[in-house]
Amino acid sequence: MTIRFQHDPVLLEETASRLELQPGAVVVDGTVGGGGHAAMILEQTGPDGVLIGLDLDPAALEAAEQRLEPFRGRFELEHASFRILDRIALASGHPQVDAVLLDLGVSSFQLDEPERGFRFSDEGTGALDMRMNPQQQASARDLLAQAPVAQLETWFREYGELRGARRLARAIATERERTQALDCADLVRLVRETGVGRGRRHHPATRVFQAIRIAVNDELGALREGLAAAERALRPGGRLVVIAYHSLEDRIVKHHFREAARACSCAPEVPICICDGVVTLRVITRKPVTPDFSEIEANPRARSARLRVALRTEAEAA
Ligand SMILES: C[S@@+](CC[C@H](N)C(=O)[O-])C[C@H]1O[C@@H](n2cnc3c(N)ncnc32)[C@H](O)[C@@H]1O
Repeated sequence: MTIRFQHDPVLLEETASRLELQPGAVVVDGTVGGGGHAAMILEQTGPDGVLIGLDLDPAALEAAEQRLEPFRGRFELEHASFRILDRIALASGHPQVDAVLLDLGVSSFQLDEPERGFRFSDEGTGALDMRMNPQQQASARDLLAQAPVAQLETWFREYGELRGARRLARAIATERERTQALDCADLVRLVRETGVGRGRRHHPATRVFQAIRIAVNDELGALREGLAAAERALRPGGRLVVIAYHSLEDRIVKHHFREAARACSCAPEVPICICDGVVTLRVITRKPVTPDFSEIEANPRARSARLRVALRTEAEAA
């Protein structure tokens, strides 16, 4: 059966030029999705380049498999997190790779499937799920039913950057005593009743859902581990391209690149270097690359994209 996977790859040309792909290159696409970027990578590395594509979502892998059919024999797809991309590359016979791409977040395909619960409506229809990998981990509904109030508050404050985080966390705790498990409509109603997120440009619940999605998938933890894994996998001179879609992700990428490009990572108050720091990356993009007006007009989802590039040095990675 053919899967209809609607997703326009974001910053496609910019990604292609920044990866500096050569024929025969070995590339890890840590977020293969529907295979949009992957198809471009396979075209540019032909006739014998290799792509290792990972995704947490089996539906995405199925779609990628179909999309990449013309390149059969030159790609491998794995149901795995990019947290362990170095191990996957090694297991497939590539201890060092020429480039790594991480195009973070969710695809339009995932957003458009109501039962995946990535998008909410004002009436609160839709599932409360948000798992990238439907076979693992607790869903959003489970987290909201089980997480301690203090944990909920931290997520709303840190991942949603919301004022009133405690108020909303407490309202959820009170509600769940009554109903056991909240559904999407309950959550949208509680957001409205507590006034959290009011006065923002987007729907008040947008940041609340963002916070829950990040928590369900441990997205920031995965990103930190994925960046370290990419460093371990890349050959000297290899390129790492990361596309982030919100400031929390972009901050982690920027910070990681900056630290990896600095010889010493000791705190400023430490008088003598004790970290034995090594420079593992050279930052290519001082400022992130962003989509132009015509791309945003054609694909509003690209609006928040921030692309950063780093070059792997000779130094050994941790
Ligand atoms: C923005 S989409 C990628 C779209 C892709 N570049 C394309 O052109 O079709 C992000 C994808 O990353 C996947 N994903 C998110 N976190 C992941 C992780 N930690 N490991 C592997 N895949 C992940 C999602 O399931 C989703 O399919």
